[in-house]
Amino acid sequence: MRHLPVFLRVRGRKVLVVGGAPRAAAKLALLGAAGARPVVIAPAVCGEIAAGAADGRIRHERRLFEPSDVADCAVVIAATGLPPVDTAVAEAARRAGVPVNVIDNAELSTFITPAIVDRDPITVAISSGGASPALVRELRSRIDRMLPSRLGHVARFAERFRDTVKSVVGDYTARRRLWDEIIGGPIADAVERGDEPGAAARMLALMNDHVAGPNPPGTVYLVGAGPGDPDLLTLRAIRALQRADVVVHDRLVGSGILEMARRDAERIYVGKEKSGHAMTQAGINALLAARAEAGDTVVRLKGGDPFVFGRGGEELDYLRQRGISVQVVPGISAAAGCAAAAGIPLTHRDLASSVTFVSGHAKDGAPRLDWPALAQGRQTIVVYMGVTTAPLIARRLIAHGLAPGTPVAVVENGTLPDQRVLTGNLRDLATLISANRVTAPALIIIGEVVALSNAVSNAAAPSLAQADAAQSVARAAAAMSVAV
Ligand SMILES: C[S@@+](CC[C@H](N)C(=O)[O-])C[C@H]1O[C@@H](n2cnc3c(N)ncnc32)[C@H](O)[C@@H]1O
Repeated sequence: MRHLPVFLRVRGRKVLVVGGAPRAAAKLALLGAAGARPVVIAPAVCGEIAAGAADGRIRHERRLFEPSDVADCAVVIAATGLPPVDTAVAEAARRAGVPVNVIDNAELSTFITPAIVDRDPITVAISSGGASPALVRELRSRIDRMLPSRLGHVARFAERFRDTVKSVVGDYTARRRLWDEIIGGPIADAVERGDEPGAAARMLALMNDHVAGPNPPGTVYLVGAGPGDPDLLTLRAIRALQRADVVVHDRLVGSGILEMARRDAERIYVGKEKSGHAMTQAGINALLAARAEAGDTVVRLKGGDPFVFGRGGEELDYLRQRGISVQVVPGISAAAGCAAAAGIPLTHRDLASSVTFVSGHAKDGAPRLDWPALAQGRQTIVVYMGVTTAPLIARRLIAHGLAPGTPVAVVENGTLPDQRVLTGNLRDLATLISANRVTAPALIIIGEVVALSNAVSNAAAPSLAQADAAQSVARAAAAMSVAV
């Protein structure tokens, strides 16, 4: 870090600005917003400063700077743009022990003013320490777009109730959870919508609940973590993670995503390997219920979307039956994430009027799928968990009439830095997978839309020997398979 971020209290204090150009006016606006008493020393000033002086917001002294001017100031800003004058101002301030900022001169400055996003009283300050003002501008605009315009109202609403909450909820951890619930839930939503009376009524009810029972049960958030790239998390998922006391996650959730959770949140890995789960589904259900019943805010973090081949429905059902509050936060499913990353539209007006997500997972040999329906043309099939059963899936689709030349794509580790996109056709799907040693997680996309892929295949080209070997494996598997 190049500078220590601090927020300085200047309300009612004298601050000195030396120089009268428009850039001095910009700093004066900031100082005025923070409640300071600005004094400008300059032989001449721009219209904006003159207007401020005329209406009494600024005291203007029409003269040259003298070192004694820095006495009793909270901060000094040198804004003349004249190196000898700015240097003299900086030296006088340093000697007097007053923080000084020389505009556009980091060397002479003892502090810098960051870019800000202002939702008074919430202020977000951004600095690159002078490394890239353009990046700072971009970040400021991103953060500005992200933050609700009435965020300041939420902060003031919380301030109104601070003492009450403190007197009702004595325990620090319980109070923190309660505030998380207030800020992350319907009460803050109501304030953001402008319904402060509604928010206050809910707040009162919440306080009463706390008086009635000291240990209210927590909530379980079933959160979709998306296909892997942390940038594909939703804002709501990030909010839930930052509120979590405990994060229960499975294999497909990477460290980049887990880092988004509150720093002191407990992280529990419950696995979900293809073979040998770290914890059974019954064990996971019981864990979620027990932690919520103990009052914890629980985030059950699942790859993709919790309701697409994620057993989210079972967990929801189990928790609801026990009267536990559950909120579902959708995620970008692997189909959407991988298709986007590979440049494959899942539907297309001329090529596919429907898309079907199927599971290739098979308990006893073959996945139970509606093969005649899947073999109809003009549709896209997305196969989850299909790496092992891909040869069988390809054979059955062909046997039910789907053209062997139908384009296919295999997306391995979609959206992640080591993503691979392999393309080929249905007839050669088994070879494509085995020759390139595809491993899970991988998604198979079947349909004419794959031909539109803009992905450059980064697969190792299968050698003839590999291809032959794979085909003989596929033939052997075909011979063993039950009749299609
Ligand atoms: C148990 S399912 C979970 C699906 C998840 N709920 C979703 O909506 O994407 C796991 C399968 O999703 C697919 N998958 C998940 N993430 C993937 C990724 N980053 N790249 C390719 N396939 C992925 C693979 O087929 C994997 O075997």
